[in-house]
Order: sequence, then C-alpha cells, then structure tokens
Amino acid sequence: MNGLRPTQGLLNAAGGGRHYRWSTMTIAGPWERAARGAMLLGADATLRPTVFAEMSALATATGSINLGQGFPDEDGPAEVLEAARAAISSGLNQYPPGPGMPVLREAIAEHHERFHGVAVDAATEVLVTAGATEGIAASLLALVSPGDEVLTVEPFYDSYGAIIALAGGVHRTVPVAPPSFLPTPEALRAAVTERTRVILLNNPHNPTGAMLPRETLELIAELAASVGATIVADEVYEHLTFGDEHVTLASIPATRENSITIGSGGKTFNTTGWKIGWIIARPELVQAVLAVKQFLTFVNGAPFQPAIAAGLRLPDSFFHQTAATLRAKRDLLASGLEAAGFRVHLPQAGYFIVADASALGVTDGAAFARELPHRAGVVGIPVTALVSEGNRPQYSSLLRFAFCKRVDVLEQAAERLAGLKL
Ligand SMILES: Cc1ncc(COP(=O)(O)O)c(C=O)c1O
Repeated sequence: MNGLRPTQGLLNAAGGGRHYRWSTMTIAGPWERAARGAMLLGADATLRPTVFAEMSALATATGSINLGQGFPDEDGPAEVLEAARAAISSGLNQYPPGPGMPVLREAIAEHHERFHGVAVDAATEVLVTAGATEGIAASLLALVSPGDEVLTVEPFYDSYGAIIALAGGVHRTVPVAPPSFLPTPEALRAAVTERTRVILLNNPHNPTGAMLPRETLELIAELAASVGATIVADEVYEHLTFGDEHVTLASIPATRENSITIGSGGKTFNTTGWKIGWIIARPELVQAVLAVKQFLTFVNGAPFQPAIAAGLRLPDSFFHQTAATLRAKRDLLASGLEAAGFRVHLPQAGYFIVADASALGVTDGAAFARELPHRAGVVGIPVTALVSEGNRPQYSSLLRFAFCKRVDVLEQAAERLAGLKL
C-alpha cells in the first residue's frame, strides 16, 4: 500500500463565498481519525469542511448576517489592546519561556484565586497554551492511549471528537436534552466504566449555555475517582454567565489531584484571534501536558501574553459589566427568535442560543440552516453538526445562533428573522 486512493474530486475549501463540496482524499493516515472523530469524513473517504466554514461561506455568498461562528465583532478592553501594542514596541517579539511568561502565569494564578477561591502555584501549576484548543489537544494526547474511553456530553465542541480520535481513544457521550441540557446522574453513572481515562467537561457548555451545578461536579469527581479517570474541564466561558456564578471544577476538593482546568483569554477579552489559553493542574499533570505541548507549538503569542495578564488583573467591575452586556445581547436575540416563531432555550452562559424551529414546521434542521440565509438573510448552525450520527434525531429541529455580536447587528438579525413568519 502506498497510501494512495483514486481521486474523485478536489477539496474546494476556499472562502470568499464559493460553495463547499465534498472531496475524496487520496492520502491515508491518522488525519482520517481526526476527520472522522469530528464527523467530517464519509465512509468513502470524502472529506467535507466544518459546518462553520461551510455556513460562513454561505453567509458571504448570500450577504447574510453570520450568527454561525462564535467570535465577537467588537474590540475588547482598551487596556488589553494597548498592553499588546506596548509589548510589541518594547521588543517582546521572540519566543517566550516554554511554560508561558511569568507575568501571565502569575496573573492566571491570582485570577483563579480571586474568582474561584482556589490557590494555584504560578510556577508549577500553570501552563500557557495556544488557546484552549491546544490545552485540550495536549491534555488528551498526553493522557489517552489507544482504546481508552473519553466521556463528554453531547452535543460537543467539535475539536473534542477530533482529538479523542487522533489519540486513538473511544469517544463515549451522554446526550443532554432541553430544557436544562444537564446530564442526569443516572446517565453519568452508566457512562463511566473501568476503561474511562478522561471525563472531558465543557462547563459552561457550548452550544447549550448549561452550567453544571456543584452536585453534578461532585458526582463526576466521585465517578472519576472510582475508576482512576482524569477530569479535564474546559471553562472558556467562565466569566460569561447570566445568573448563577460559575463553579470551577477545581473548587471541588476531590478533583485537585486528578483534574485539569482549561481557560482562555479569547472569550473574556474579545481577543479570539490571539489564541492565549492555559491549563491549571497539579505539577505532575502540568509536566505531562507540557511534554506534548512543547512539540505542538512550543510557544505562542509573546506580546499577547502580558496583554492577557493585564486583562486578568482588571477590576471585578469589568468582568461583571462584560457579562451584563452579553446578557442584554442574549435577551435581544432571544426575543427576535421568539418573535420569528422559534422556541428559545435561554442559555445561562456563553455565546450561543439554541433555538427550536419545530413550530416553524422544521424537521430537518441541517436543511433548514442551509435555507435560512436565502429565506431570511441570517446564518445559524444546525445543532446536529455537534452530535454523533446515531443521536441526531432528538436534535433535528435545533439551531445554534451566536449573540456575541454588536447590538445593531443583532437588531437587524431580529428584523430579518421576523420575515420568516410572513
Ligand atoms: C467550548 C470551547 N472550548 C474551546 C474553544 C476554543 O478556545 P480558544 O480559542 O482559546 O482555543 C471554544 C471556542 O469556540 C469553545 O467554544
């Protein structure tokens, strides 16, 4: 075998409004596991772009408002942007230290203690990563051996499936249902087995905005301890909460020894393009993740590291105001969606609303999401794109819309959606 297969098409993945189509790949290799894990590979080796790329291209082609992808369209705090400019001007443009600049590691530790009451040693328990995405990838590649099970809830953030599969792991899921979108204790108990190596939590959760209560975190800690699994908690939306305060996994004492908490500056400071993330864990776990991370990117974003440190040190009022502003945007989009005939599952946190289009006669959300830009000039993502094939029927009328956009953009989206009912 030379690893080649007959070519039947070429990947047409360029943006700029061109439509995407499936293509048949000719190269054999572990990339296939990643693509299949992210549900992007057909049985006949056809590879398709992510739903985000596809829907963003459709937004451009149709001149639609793109509420598909979760990135803000406004700059974050001026202090943070200015700190990055100052860092570049002062010559912080070379490789930073492998674990991250001390100024940022210290700010991450202080921030964790200030908001969550958990003491962290900046020197040994913090590792700066290229976004949360690299923190997740390095953690899973460090811990998961072929055949190990990794448990997530479903729907799940797409990179989880890709990296679990790349590591050779077996992805087990607990599907969550509206209105709470919380995993039940029975489902969690049934899903954790002797083969579970990692329980990968996304809390607060993308796309549903659900926040795990302390009792659920305690149960997960107990289940993980009973089989020796490590809990990896992706908490990138920790500050974007609209009612209850976020409970970090690390505040559950039983998890201190065997958990990794992952954070990111991208969401909190509207700097998703900077890719400054981090992990917090006990020193041995940090070392294990570092062993992988240092050969993925080694380091990244030197001038952005002190800038995110400045952000993490902003007063409490900044964090409260950020959440309040986003909450108002959530409410604005929610009422627009409701007026258009969707049933809205109001999120408690994060960037996204999951809306049910069944009252509009929708049974196939994926087809409807592709129609919506033409019918209403608005783009959303079908939730089924974040769900494994066998579990899709229960999510078939659900769409995900991002509300981390300017107020005038959301108002215009609401106006356009109102036309759907006519
Ligand atoms: C749940 C979740 N984890 C991680 C990320 C990625 O974070 P970063 O940009 O810091 O890599 C996202 C971004 O959308 C996300 O929704």
